[in-house]
Amino acid sequence: MKRSSRSSLGRDEMKTTTDAGGDVRLSGISKTYGSFTAVHPLDLTVPQGSFFALLGASGCGKTTTLRMIAGLEEPTSGTVHLGDQDVTALPPYKRPVNTVFQSYALFPHLDIFENVAFGLRRRGIKSVKKQVGDMLDLVQLGEQARKKPHQLSGGQQQRVAVARALINHPRVLLLDEPLGALDLKLRRQMQLELKRIQTEVGITFVHVTHDQEEAMTMADTVAVMNAGRVEQLGSPADLYENPRSTFVANFLGTSNLIEAEVDSRSGEDVVLRAGGGKLVLPEARCAAPTTTGGKVLVGIRPEKISLTHADDAGGIPEGRNRITGTIAATSFIGVSTQYVVDSAVCPEFEVYVQNVDRDTRLAPGAEVVLHWSPAHTFGFDAEQAIDAGLDEEAAL
Ligand SMILES: Nc1ncnc2c1ncn2[C@@H]1O[C@H](COP(=O)(O)OP(=O)(O)OP(=O)(O)O)[C@@H](O)[C@H]1O
Ligand SMILES: [Mg+2]
Repeated sequence: MKRSSRSSLGRDEMKTTTDAGGDVRLSGISKTYGSFTAVHPLDLTVPQGSFFALLGASGCGKTTTLRMIAGLEEPTSGTVHLGDQDVTALPPYKRPVNTVFQSYALFPHLDIFENVAFGLRRRGIKSVKKQVGDMLDLVQLGEQARKKPHQLSGGQQQRVAVARALINHPRVLLLDEPLGALDLKLRRQMQLELKRIQTEVGITFVHVTHDQEEAMTMADTVAVMNAGRVEQLGSPADLYENPRSTFVANFLGTSNLIEAEVDSRSGEDVVLRAGGGKLVLPEARCAAPTTTGGKVLVGIRPEKISLTHADDAGGIPEGRNRITGTIAATSFIGVSTQYVVDSAVCPEFEVYVQNVDRDTRLAPGAEVVLHWSPAHTFGFDAEQAIDAGLDEEAAL
């Protein structure tokens, strides 16, 4: 999507309304409905000017959390601060917050210009032309100002909804699955577009989604929610590379998880026994106690693994974790080939190999060695369910 003209409504101008802290602070906030707890007491700080995503499966409490920030839901306990201001007791319309929902709820009888001008007119502001024009430029709809909502595409309507919210100069913009109604291609486009708008205006965005790719593409910080709790919080790369629970390992991308037993320690590393072989895991990457004889779950991402035909195993460098197995299935998807390997350690090991030089011997039935750097391995407490987060991912 190309920008037709640059908006004069840039970061500095918008900043005047966000200087006083601007961040969202939730302290011990919770919500119960009768005996059901939708959100367990939660502490969360959203840094000012950041793009923050609440990511989780259906029913995990994302919307409830967002509605408590907006003031649309009264918390059972805890407080909400916006910057220095405790807004817990304030009604929604007194909070410097705007919300964009999945259904854009544009006014069908008003044109795009008037939809965007709505918030200004309601506040009795007469000369709206420049502000609305700037805002329409920001969302690249300057040409569409006189159309009615039904004459726009889904993505365009979505941008009108964003413009209509931003024109009120909120301190925080809350977005609840705003791209949910769009098809995949438009959705991907709008993710980049929303990210650009957020970078340009510098307002704090709190974005709710159940799509892990969407959260990772857009957000600076992602809070992964599971059953009313924040399971882990971090940058997309941090969550992906260093998951601290099987839920995060499975929900965000794909992980191979192996049951292992602590054998010994070697310097900074833990040596583990799994399926008759040994694996090495840096102790710092293990979110579990590493007492000798104790059980841990070991994880490795499919793209970190190399696949070598058993005949060439002699060439594998020393110091790599290795597992032998048999290729059970392959699927060529252009950019890579995805292999499922059957081994004593794990029945369905997934391996993604980038399509550079394809080894035609790597076909179903071939004996192979999987190997990877111990530094890419992560470890968890074996008390957790090995398949946590898997059903949720399948539901995407
Ligand atoms: N008014 C209500 N009364 C009773 N239970 C509710 C109410 N609102 C929400 N819940 C329950 O609280 C839980 C969290 O709901 P919430 O809408 O926050 O989920 P969500 O993470 O936004 O899910 P989705 O991705 O499906 O939108 C759900 O189990 C839901 O059924
Ligand atoms: Mg929801």
